[in-house]
Amino acid sequence: MTAPREFTGGPRHIAIIMDGNGRWATQRRRPRLFGHHAGARRVREVVEACPELGVKYLTIFAFSTENWKRTQVEVAGLMSLFRRYIMKEMQAFVKENVRVRFIGDRPRLDAKLRGLMDEAEALTAHCTGTNLTIALNYGGRDEVARATQRLAQDVAAGRLDPADVNEETLPRYLDTHVLPDPDLVIRTSGEARISNFLLWQSAYAEYEFVDTLWPDFSKDELRRLVEAYGGRERRFGAVPV
Ligand code: FPP
Repeated sequence: MTAPREFTGGPRHIAIIMDGNGRWATQRRRPRLFGHHAGARRVREVVEACPELGVKYLTIFAFSTENWKRTQVEVAGLMSLFRRYIMKEMQAFVKENVRVRFIGDRPRLDAKLRGLMDEAEALTAHCTGTNLTIALNYGGRDEVARATQRLAQDVAAGRLDPADVNEETLPRYLDTHVLPDPDLVIRTSGEARISNFLLWQSAYAEYEFVDTLWPDFSKDELRRLVEAYGGRERRFGAVPV
């Protein structure tokens, strides 16, 4: 007799690589920043959909450590969009009980933006609904390197025994230390790459690569992906019994 298939239910933590803003704008003969602004509006829709889909953690890739290589106009436009977005959405997040966090290397971001990030985190610290994590100047390898530096400092100071460095202790140094690992990683725009996003954390995640450009991504498409995930079996390397 075969053992009953184990259904895991929906994903508790979804991570999204929001790709395709530039192409979406180019298709409309508009500047790339027009696409980023349209993309920001989709973030709102997706955050709002989380409670009804049973998604407790949502992590979105807003700006990577590699994105500095874009033109100065695009980088400045994105930074200004992030500042305005945080200012505009902060009160709405509190009202909707959304707890906001940021991951990534902050010192390279401008002081005004960093101040707003701190403010948003403090203002929503008591919120118990959706946990929204925004990756800003984030790179998975950079995160592991920064974590290793802090870990090495603890070893050098005698606070950590090298024999205790393992799969349990190392993630405590990652930016994501308070978050569970993502269950489902979604990338839009038809590219099948993970582009340095949550490298350590996604070791056992399911992946979905969809053709939709991010500004066209909808609540309905998210629902479909959540339902598809609910029908899968996750074994974490084990053999089903
Ligand atoms: C990738 O599209 C998208 C980005 C580098 C920026 C993501 C930012 C947003 C969705 C804006 C809003 C976010 C927040 C949190 C306010 P791309 O420019 O690489 O598109 P392309 O591959 O078509 O050129």
